[in-house]
Amino acid sequence: MTFQFRRSGPSQLAGAYRFHTFFYMVLIAGVSAGVVNLSSPASAASLSEVELSELEQRGEYLTAAGNCMSCHTNGDDKPFAGGLEFDTPFGTIYSTNITSDPEAGIGQWSLEDFTNAVRHGEAPDGKHLYPVFPYTSYAKVSDEDIAAIYAYLKTIAPVKSTPPENDLSFPYSQRWTSGLWKAMYHDDGPFEPQPGQSAQWNRGAYLVEGLGHCSMCHTPRNFMGANDSGLAMTGGTYMTRVEGKLSAWSAPNLTSADVGLAMWTVDDIADYLKLGVSHRAGVFGPMNEVVVNSTRHLSTEDVRAMAVYLKSLPANSQDGGEPATADVLRAGSIQYDIHCGSCHLPTGEGSPEQGPPLIGSPVVLDMDPASLINITLYGAQTPHISPSDEWASRAWILMDPFDNILDDEQVADLLSFIRGTWGHEAGAVTPEQVAEQR
Ligand code: HEC
Ligand code: HEC
Ligand code: HEC
Repeated sequence: MTFQFRRSGPSQLAGAYRFHTFFYMVLIAGVSAGVVNLSSPASAASLSEVELSELEQRGEYLTAAGNCMSCHTNGDDKPFAGGLEFDTPFGTIYSTNITSDPEAGIGQWSLEDFTNAVRHGEAPDGKHLYPVFPYTSYAKVSDEDIAAIYAYLKTIAPVKSTPPENDLSFPYSQRWTSGLWKAMYHDDGPFEPQPGQSAQWNRGAYLVEGLGHCSMCHTPRNFMGANDSGLAMTGGTYMTRVEGKLSAWSAPNLTSADVGLAMWTVDDIADYLKLGVSHRAGVFGPMNEVVVNSTRHLSTEDVRAMAVYLKSLPANSQDGGEPATADVLRAGSIQYDIHCGSCHLPTGEGSPEQGPPLIGSPVVLDMDPASLINITLYGAQTPHISPSDEWASRAWILMDPFDNILDDEQVADLLSFIRGTWGHEAGAVTPEQVAEQR
């Protein structure tokens, strides 16, 4: 059974997570949470002014790498003041205020308190935090980096804003349930560099697996809501709510599988993360938030390191489903030529002026076609960014929505066609799947 953490907020980027329930952990008794050991990095008090300011700047960079902003901000005027809503069928969880306010925020927290929360999901009063907060990834972040983030958050002006009380039904309201879940599924061991790999690869692995928390969306979860490590980065589901309407997005395969990043070069991945656009694709949907608030702020070296690491992930994939029949492919190919071929070309190879290639696109080939259906129905909703930066150099024209032009069956035929031609072997899309995304 699955349930969803739905994250809602004022922006249309607000999203949510589909977790399988971790609440089943209440059935398992007698497991004790791991003991916390902390080495203490140098305290900020012992630093000179210059050293402190360097630490804070490093912290600002790392806070962007962790995208703390997206989840802890509800309204642009109150960055980091929390209050963003995450709904589950069992009730609602709100993100917390992490500004330096002594009462509403974390102004009174020691570095040890903060490290415990980020790495072990435990607040100072011993209460266990829910894994909507991706401490399962952040556990890999080094003591030094956590100390820098802590120093930076101390510089955030205090905001007196207390998020609403969580509203979860019993026994889910009991935080010890999270404690049991962690005891079973949370690996809070530090990041282990691989000695056989380059420094660049290790840097990339550290960022992707740690602060980047890419697996939160790109890895499927088992029935207990824990990442399914055998299928790491082979694709997951993410939910958004736009104007009250909940819709599913598929976060595609990022391994070297044919349905993943096989056709992307290291440059393509690095450009996509840094500039929001590459020869292979441009950002839209939930990746807007990831790239706008996080990866575009990283150095060219760091996004490259992430790309090198991603390119090294061995090909792995989930079952792609049954291919479409010849009749469906024929009907779809006609629709494609009428509606899509002008920009993506009849060969699916795309063009630098009109639109990206669809051949080898992870969004096209994802075993779950949710994001493919969304972009077809609603167009590519690209981020609004000041025209002064590199984003303005995007050469492509925009992709318009087709929800009023094509019915469910036409969309299903068309998408089944692009998933089954040009050497693609992804499963057919059904009209029911399209209807679900309307
Ligand atoms: C995917 C969304 C998400 C991201 C990304 C995220 N958080 Fe959170 N965070 C939450 C939620 C939700 C809670 C509340 C959990 C609970 O109440 O159990 C939380 C709780 C916390 C807490 C505990 C505060 C308290 O008062 O108990 C701290 C500290 C924190 N986050 C820091 C961070 C930092 C630092 C980052 C970036 C490195 C970050 N968070 C990124 C969602 C997120
Ligand atoms: C909040 C959920 C979420 C997180 C976190 C996330 N992704 Fe994604 N990603 C998605 C979704 C959904 C899609 C497909 C639709 C889209 O592009 O938004 C996607 C698509 C992609 C694509 C394919 C783009 C294309 O158009 O073909 C790449 C590459 C990618 N993500 C890389 C990453 C990396 C690297 C990270 C970590 C730094 C990451 N993602 C973190 C949800 C997420
Ligand atoms: C007017 C030109 C145009 C037309 C017509 C068009 N597209 Fe697009 N398409 C684009 C552009 C531009 C993008 C890149 C959007 C971005 O930057 O995020 C895109 C992106 C995509 C993507 C995302 C690929 C990836 O990996 O990120 C898919 C899938 C897609 N289009 C499918 C279609 C389908 C199916 C049709 C026909 C129903 C269609 N497009 C019609 C211009 C077009």
